[in-house]
Amino acid sequence: MKVLVVLLAVLCGTAFAYKSYEGYHVLKTKPLANEDLRKFDALRSDPTFNFWVFPQVGRAVEIMVPPANVSSLHSRLQRYGLEPTVVIENVEEIVANERAEIEAMRRAEKLSGRAPSFDRFLDLSELFAYLDEVVATYPEIATIIDIGTSFEGRPLRVLKLSNGPGKSGLFIESVIHAREWIGPPTLLYAINELTENLANNQAMLDKNDFYFLLATNPDGYDYTWTTDRFWRKTRKPNSGSSCVGTDPNRNFDWKWGGGGIPGPCDETYPGTGPLSEIECKSYADFLAANPSINMVISIHSYGQMLLYSWGDTTELPPNVGILDSIATAAMEALYAVRGTTYDIGSIANTIYLAYGGTIDWVLGVLGKQAYAFELPGGGLAGFNPPASAIIPVATETWEAFKVFAENIPPL
Ligand SMILES: *[C@@H]1O[C@H](CO)[C@@H](O)[C@H](O)[C@H]1NC(C)=O
Ligand SMILES: [Zn+2]
Repeated sequence: MKVLVVLLAVLCGTAFAYKSYEGYHVLKTKPLANEDLRKFDALRSDPTFNFWVFPQVGRAVEIMVPPANVSSLHSRLQRYGLEPTVVIENVEEIVANERAEIEAMRRAEKLSGRAPSFDRFLDLSELFAYLDEVVATYPEIATIIDIGTSFEGRPLRVLKLSNGPGKSGLFIESVIHAREWIGPPTLLYAINELTENLANNQAMLDKNDFYFLLATNPDGYDYTWTTDRFWRKTRKPNSGSSCVGTDPNRNFDWKWGGGGIPGPCDETYPGTGPLSEIECKSYADFLAANPSINMVISIHSYGQMLLYSWGDTTELPPNVGILDSIATAAMEALYAVRGTTYDIGSIANTIYLAYGGTIDWVLGVLGKQAYAFELPGGGLAGFNPPASAIIPVATETWEAFKVFAENIPPL
């Protein structure tokens, strides 16, 4: 039997392993008021319900739900007075279209002999191959630093771009949440601007070093390609629970577990303790060991928000004036490209209270500037924008990166 299963898996390719989202719906509520937030507590701890947008004041919640549970969720949300609507009727269609588009682009690349690039989504091995190629092509400025190894043994691979010692650095990181696929190609675009298009951006590299961690959660990212497109957390099992993984963006050692610790089935489960996830520990250790890195940008999706600290309190950090003015200037540059608007503000004031977050740790513990992007989504298909959305998002985000780079505090 085992042999047959393996044989079938080989014959059918990786498609055999995909979790099917046939008939899964996405329901969307009206924008929430403060008193609505608690209504989702039970739903959040039940793995049946997958939150695409978590409960936050002033925004609509989006929940993916299996076909068997659509009508009960719909009536429950109705009972709560949240006016649910169906925004997606069959999530599998979106996932299948996405896979078909990627396969078509891979075939076209093979035919033309062109290397994979940031005009499509790249899986983990394609991302690593791309970085190797950057280092091979630009050895005088590009190096790879493996800052650790994930729970399942994958490298935590940072590309460093530098043309000389003694410079302060900007560290940009993506897919700490595995399903947020728009992040890596956006970073590859920035890498391309600082290598192939360096002539246009020479002053940036003369002034600063740049660090890119494309797959901050490589196990989760790989899992979204091989098995479950909507995986968010790490892939370390939790003892005593069938629910796998920790939310790495709740696992940092700053007010960790504040506000209560939800169970392991919650998508925001913060782990067994601060930095319990090797991916977060490696990330934190690297930043702590490299004090010339004076600014950190964490890339998430989706929501069109530019966030700074704090997440654990609605109070604002002492340097909020600087954070807000740089963020505002960056978003003006981004807006100028094609009119994309972002909400700007602290995490707690803009979305919700969140404890143990990456950027809070960077500011609170290291005292360095840190920002988080929620990049745009794919319209109704939140985490699954078409490949054609990548370049427009990457182009406008690059303009924002340039503003951040201009403002990296000197050594
Ligand atoms: C979802 O539907 C299945 C099948 O009807 C049912 O067994 C299960 O209890 C439902 N789950 C929830 C959380 O309502
Ligand atoms: Zn995220």
